[in-house]
Amino acid sequence: MKIGVLTSGGDAPGMNAAIRAVVRRSLSLGLEVYGIRRGFDGLLDGDLVPMKVESVGDIIHRGGTTLHTARSARFYHVEGQDLGAARLRGAGIGGLVIIGGDGSFRGMVELCRRGVKAAGVPATIDNDLAYTDYSIGFDTAVNTGVEAVNRLRDTATSHERIFVVETMGRLAGHLALAVGVAGGAESILIPELPVNIEEVCQKLRKGMERGKVHSIIIVAEGAGSGFDVARQIEACLGMELRVTVLGHVQRGGTPTALDRLIASRLGAKAVDLLAQGESNLMVGISGTGVIATPMPQVLATKREIDLELFKLAEDLAR
Ligand code: F6P
Repeated sequence: MKIGVLTSGGDAPGMNAAIRAVVRRSLSLGLEVYGIRRGFDGLLDGDLVPMKVESVGDIIHRGGTTLHTARSARFYHVEGQDLGAARLRGAGIGGLVIIGGDGSFRGMVELCRRGVKAAGVPATIDNDLAYTDYSIGFDTAVNTGVEAVNRLRDTATSHERIFVVETMGRLAGHLALAVGVAGGAESILIPELPVNIEEVCQKLRKGMERGKVHSIIIVAEGAGSGFDVARQIEACLGMELRVTVLGHVQRGGTPTALDRLIASRLGAKAVDLLAQGESNLMVGISGTGVIATPMPQVLATKREIDLELFKLAEDLAR
């Protein structure tokens, strides 16, 4: 049996550790393994490279993805999906590991409909997939965000300023919430909950009355632009704010130990399941264990925001 592995969609720190795990577990099981470069685009172009033990040496600590990635427009169409399945059949790939997020997994389901055997490994800094406590990359992105907040706090205190910090996260607020709680933000605005600027301002006013000289407001990109939020707060408080958009800085950098651990466990498990003849599933972390869930069930389920964590943040930030 030949295993193929590709990374797709937005890159995430820890993807390399997952590639390494897929390659080395495949080789341990006596399976041939091929890396498919540039995600589904590379699959359509037949951009396959044989992987050996040394192909994944010295990558566990590197951010990004050594296989490169893409958001393939061609693969959205039936013709692209048919061609992708044909390419895999032609190359004799009996099991495909897709490391990515929900968009990539929708593509995977299309391949499975065409007879391909595949398993998904969740990797997205947005952490917006159900049936896994963590997606690869989230922990690193949270730590990068918190590090940025720490730095901004220094300058905010020196200048007695309020900062608005916009995080990534696409349509979800999980990343912003985690950064906000760990960074001790005064307010956290996320798309899953109503945004009330008047309430934010009241809280800021109360803080200032107590002599507080700096504040950090975290805004998830899905809840609106950090600049718009800052302008609204400026209008109600009558003072100037500063804005920092973390953007793609949050997607790079050396993966944390947690991301490497998760990636190693999930990558190996995906290969084990394919070798056992399983398909159309996503591996995930549940508590201290590794689980597998049918992919259609994963894609049909919205990952809910942790309301208790949000309430805790509100209570602790004063
Ligand atoms: O899904 C990961 C993510 O980084 C989102 O948080 C963000 O909205 C998006 O990708 C950005 O995509 P791109 O790199 O294509 O601009």
